[in-house]
Amino acid sequence: MPTLNWAGKDKVLNHHLDVPVRVLERVYHFDEGGARRTPPDASRHPPLGGGQKEESCGNMIVHGDNLAALKALLPRFEGRVDCIYIDPPYNTGNEGWVYNDNVNDPQIRKWLGEVVGKEGEDFSRHDKWLCMMYPRLKILQKLLSRDGYIFLSISFPHEEAHLRLICNEIFGSQNFIGELTWESTTQPSNAGAAKFGLQQKVEPILCYIKDRKAYHGFYLSQKDVEKKYPHLGNHGACRFEIIEKSDAGGYKRDSMKFQILGQYPRAGKRWQIGEDLARELERMGKLEIVDGIVKRAIYPEDEVGKDALVPFWSHFGAKEFGTAESGKNDLNEIMGFATGFDTVKPVGLISAILEHVCTKNSIVLDSFAGSGTTAHAVLKMNAEDGGNRRFILVELMDYAENITAERVKRVIRGYGSGDKAVAGTGGNFDFFELGPSLMDGDALNEALSVETLREYVWWTETHAQYGNADPKDPYLLGSHNGTAYYFCYERGRTVALNRALLRKIKAKAESYVVFADTCLLDEATLRRLRITFKKIPRDIARP
Ligand SMILES: C[S@@+](CC[C@H](N)C(=O)[O-])C[C@H]1O[C@@H](n2cnc3c(N)ncnc32)[C@H](O)[C@@H]1O
Repeated sequence: MPTLNWAGKDKVLNHHLDVPVRVLERVYHFDEGGARRTPPDASRHPPLGGGQKEESCGNMIVHGDNLAALKALLPRFEGRVDCIYIDPPYNTGNEGWVYNDNVNDPQIRKWLGEVVGKEGEDFSRHDKWLCMMYPRLKILQKLLSRDGYIFLSISFPHEEAHLRLICNEIFGSQNFIGELTWESTTQPSNAGAAKFGLQQKVEPILCYIKDRKAYHGFYLSQKDVEKKYPHLGNHGACRFEIIEKSDAGGYKRDSMKFQILGQYPRAGKRWQIGEDLARELERMGKLEIVDGIVKRAIYPEDEVGKDALVPFWSHFGAKEFGTAESGKNDLNEIMGFATGFDTVKPVGLISAILEHVCTKNSIVLDSFAGSGTTAHAVLKMNAEDGGNRRFILVELMDYAENITAERVKRVIRGYGSGDKAVAGTGGNFDFFELGPSLMDGDALNEALSVETLREYVWWTETHAQYGNADPKDPYLLGSHNGTAYYFCYERGRTVALNRALLRKIKAKAESYVVFADTCLLDEATLRRLRITFKKIPRDIARP
């Protein structure tokens, strides 16, 4: 497979592995009743991903660099995100925008300097952009569920070709689903652009699935349903399919000529379905006589997930889905002032993407959140169909609070007045800042709660979800693939794996992994008891 090379690639290929796992510190919880700040005496560092506090709904807005934030999300969300939509900086070189549109933002420049060193100063802006994107995409790939999709907005003239090639490398070219286009503008761009190139009316949106083998087609949107199922059947919208076939030649089979709804097939024809299925469909009311012919009524739910349903959508027209201009106007209206954000995605565009790939319970991630359009789309869809989709947003800039989160608050509560009043969607979210790393150099960060450390160690060993610990077996982290994992750790005290500790190990398992500070058992005993000893902190992996 052809791959792309650029200055600095060797430095970032495996950089995602060096990024320390940090905790996410919840600053406040917001719901229709307003914001409640996390009290300082509560666990300052709740378990990774924010903890399971009653009030926590699972919607998250994280302020910080998405490289660190995505790594922080891994222990809780690896392999669990159903849909990722990202709208990264397009790298247009336009320095004057409110959006951090290029890689010259001081925070990103600093990061680049640390990762690639002084030579990075000579890189072109395309090299820098690729260095920035590569490790972030690597972690996004890990976060996706097996049948999860990632959609990436970009612009044709700047980084589209590069992005496609690095995505082929990271997500696999076999997992490339296609490239959608969005009509982002209906106006000619400024006169200068016309002098140097073509007017671009559309922006591409790349789409990959995590694993092509898990591909099951797209869900029908409400609009698809209306287009495809215009007839009214017994139970609502359905389409009708003829179930007769010519009985000419080798297809002549008398066993396929029984009565359905009191009718035999017409002359020269036989049924396509067997008698057992016909009786079952009759019983379910899924056969009808339409225009004198027996037909099978197909309902949307009979087809969801089948390849037959791959919809026609590959282009999102401005009229139906909105433009960057309409996205901007909507944002300004919600906020009540001119935000200065110029390239806001319209909610209609993001909803149209989500409704084809998400169930009502999907987790949706946007790690270049900007003004929070993705959260707006998720909340709106939930309000419309009673769904329980969850969003996770990450935004680097300080406007994460006063634009990103503020927009989401207004959407939840409702905004505007008089004729322009828009009812709130309801819902809630937690706002997070990046906290300290789990590892303090080579040592465990003892300032963190033991529960946080346990969850981290469990993830480093299993990459599975944490949560099946047994209170009667306090050192047990859980069992995975026949192995029981024990983390025998006490703050400020050395714990040795010895005979006394063995008596505390209650889980029945094929093998055991036991973390402790020291081991006083000999090799033969460990082998006999099928125990692998791991020393804290030396043997804690750094994934
Ligand atoms: C083009 S805007 C996204 C616009 C968004 N889709 C909307 O509708 O408002 C890109 C956003 O990514 C943010 N960003 C850039 N680099 C980032 C990073 N390393 N971590 C988190 N956010 C980042 C920028 O600050 C900017 O807000």
